[in-house]
Amino acid sequence: MRSELNIWDHSRQLLELLSARGADRAPEMDSSAQGAELLAPFAAALKSPRLLDVGCGGGHFYHSLKRRGLSADYFGLDSSRQAVRTARAAFETLGLDRGRIILGRVEDLFGLEFDLAVIINTMTFCADFRQPLDRIIDTGVRAVVIRDNFGPETEIRWEPDGFLDEGFNHLCGYWNRWSEAAVADFFSQRGFATKKVMDNRTKGQMELVVNKPYYWSWLLAWRRLAFENYR
Ligand SMILES: C[S@@+](CC[C@H](N)C(=O)[O-])C[C@H]1O[C@@H](n2cnc3c(N)ncnc32)[C@H](O)[C@@H]1O
Repeated sequence: MRSELNIWDHSRQLLELLSARGADRAPEMDSSAQGAELLAPFAAALKSPRLLDVGCGGGHFYHSLKRRGLSADYFGLDSSRQAVRTARAAFETLGLDRGRIILGRVEDLFGLEFDLAVIINTMTFCADFRQPLDRIIDTGVRAVVIRDNFGPETEIRWEPDGFLDEGFNHLCGYWNRWSEAAVADFFSQRGFATKKVMDNRTKGQMELVVNKPYYWSWLLAWRRLAFENYR
């Protein structure tokens, strides 16, 4: 998407926060903490798995992994030029490889291989869940950890953000909610088992995100053949 049209490129406040998180100068997000905990059993079962953090923002999930001693070969992907610039700068400051942060849309993911993926607070901003998930599955992942706006039915919202920098509040984005059953069925058709997990931060309660109602929960998906004993 052109930067001029990308809502994520036009919030100085958010980019400053991403910069602090990427440099590990901000408190750990509850969702990053829970995501790392949910990923741990899959990471432990694989030997230094290649992990893709889809919609990585400041790349701060890297710190949540390190904090818990999880050994994973971390890569972040984000479609916002500004977020990627911010994450790369933070990684460089910490002496980490800026090449670990990839610029691109998840929908265009191609030719890369990963063992695990997380997609935290991001799929809701995609036009649909199918294309992102197929692109992630095509990388060869054996498990995916998702935090998103799940509910009984899919609801598509294309609305202005309203909290962007002056002059950009005409820009719209998706603020979607996905049918949990439809996403689970999609994974099942591709040989994955799934499990829903309650969100530690919101505990099933509605949370407003830029004044839009969000019901966060987690969906874990794993290839049945790869993790036969996972429940
Ligand atoms: C709310 S932030 C979440 C950042 C981080 N995962 C977290 O939980 O703090 C959503 C991120 O997803 C990115 N994003 C949105 N749509 C995307 C897409 N189609 N492909 C890749 N990244 C995307 C945005 O640029 C933004 O950095």
